[in-house]
Amino acid sequence: MSEFLTLNIGLCGFGTVGQGVWKHLSANRAELESRLGVKLNLARAAVRDPGKHRTVKIPRSKLTTDPLAIANDPSIQLVCELMGGTTLARQVTLAALRQGKIVVSANKALICAHGREIIAAAQEHGGHFFFEASVAGGIPIIKALREGLVANRFPRIYGILNGTCNYILTQMEEQDAPYAEVLAEAKRLGYAEADEALDVDGWDTAHKASVLAWLAHGMWVKTDQMIVEGISGITPADFKNAATLGFGIKLLAVITRDLAKNELCVRVHPTLLPAGNVIANVSGVFNAISVTGDVVGTTLYSGRGAGQDATASAVISDIADAAALLKHGKGAHLIGEAPTPARGGCKLAPPESIRCRYYVRLTVKDQPGVLARVASVMARHLVSIASVIQSPAERAGAASLVLTTHESNERAMLATLKQLAGLGSVLDRPLLLRIGDFGD
Ligand SMILES: NC(=O)c1ccc[n+]([C@@H]2O[C@H](COP(=O)([O-])OP(=O)(O)OC[C@H]3O[C@@H](n4cnc5c(N)ncnc54)[C@H](OP(=O)(O)O)[C@@H]3O)[C@@H](O)[C@H]2O)c1
Repeated sequence: MSEFLTLNIGLCGFGTVGQGVWKHLSANRAELESRLGVKLNLARAAVRDPGKHRTVKIPRSKLTTDPLAIANDPSIQLVCELMGGTTLARQVTLAALRQGKIVVSANKALICAHGREIIAAAQEHGGHFFFEASVAGGIPIIKALREGLVANRFPRIYGILNGTCNYILTQMEEQDAPYAEVLAEAKRLGYAEADEALDVDGWDTAHKASVLAWLAHGMWVKTDQMIVEGISGITPADFKNAATLGFGIKLLAVITRDLAKNELCVRVHPTLLPAGNVIANVSGVFNAISVTGDVVGTTLYSGRGAGQDATASAVISDIADAAALLKHGKGAHLIGEAPTPARGGCKLAPPESIRCRYYVRLTVKDQPGVLARVASVMARHLVSIASVIQSPAERAGAASLVLTTHESNERAMLATLKQLAGLGSVLDRPLLLRIGDFGD
């Protein structure tokens, strides 16, 4: 081992992910080092509270409460930012990159908010930024896009990127249970945070979609430039209606690029997927992604999208790339870092470019003539009805009306929905779901 170079690693954050990295690096160190030809030295770790009980033990002498001290430590070549948040995490990341260091990050919120600045800092100062763990946990989707599929342009990428939402939707469907009840159970089991909004309102998925869109298309799309809708409006009845129509319901990130017009669209919303679609059958906390390339066709990836071990697997793969970089320099075969993807004149697609079939659920007064009024509003916006399911609503004197449409576009549907919501016979806010006819 004496002839091996040593990579000194600083972990900023020793929580769920940080401890997982330490645990698995310690357990598999000998094999990893012999494969990489580099000695991996866990030099220091930063935490908020050094006295906290941790399941993975670390010598107290290696702990600091100052993550910037790790970023600025000249003996440390690799900084793993595993704290979360966007303020201190940004400072630590930029400080390390400005010294030409390698930063490994699992922090999709940081990349979505400050990715442009971070990549620019890395390029300007000769630093390197790896982020395999930021999207889909243990699934090597970043490397797939950067390396395995480098020959391709990507007309469509879609998938389940948030295990908490997928767990909740799966339980609602399988147990016929209401959203609030399943959410409470998910919190009890530790699958959902105390403040669940980041997950269930779609923001976490949107952060990851932003990272994938940049990797695939070279364009930073902020969350306020996307449709972002969460899962809290879905009811068990929606699953029954969807099943009757031959669909399941998943919260998806959908990234499409019209290669002819060079228009990019990034959106996050619950989606009706045909029951036979592989991703419609991915249950529980698992993630799954379908990537269609113009050269390769469609490829599919699934696995654990979060959790200590899956995320540590992804972080360690970036550490391995950092070791290859140290050993071989830029251009090494193993390096997962690619040059910034070319934006190539790509622009954001207008809403009318989103074309799909739609599912609309209305709670209406149980009176004659209501369906005719609804149909007339839809006709006014050139939205054509494909099917209608009418059933009693829970509330007395009300009925549930579920309509699917033939293909329409987002602008027409939003105008239709606004007008439907204003009808005196429509009682609650209408629910609009998109149907994902992705053909794979
Ligand atoms: N958990 C997952 O399954 C998962 C999956 C994919 C990506 N990620 C991402 O990975 C990152 C870390 O997540 P996590 O679940 O490991 O979080 P976590 O369990 O809350 O751990 C955060 C760690 O950072 C430390 N820390 C926080 N603020 C600090 C500060 N101001 N100074 C010093 N140390 C500080 C904490 O110290 P204390 O221990 O003393 O509190 C803790 O060790 C996040 O960006 C997250 O989005 C997580």
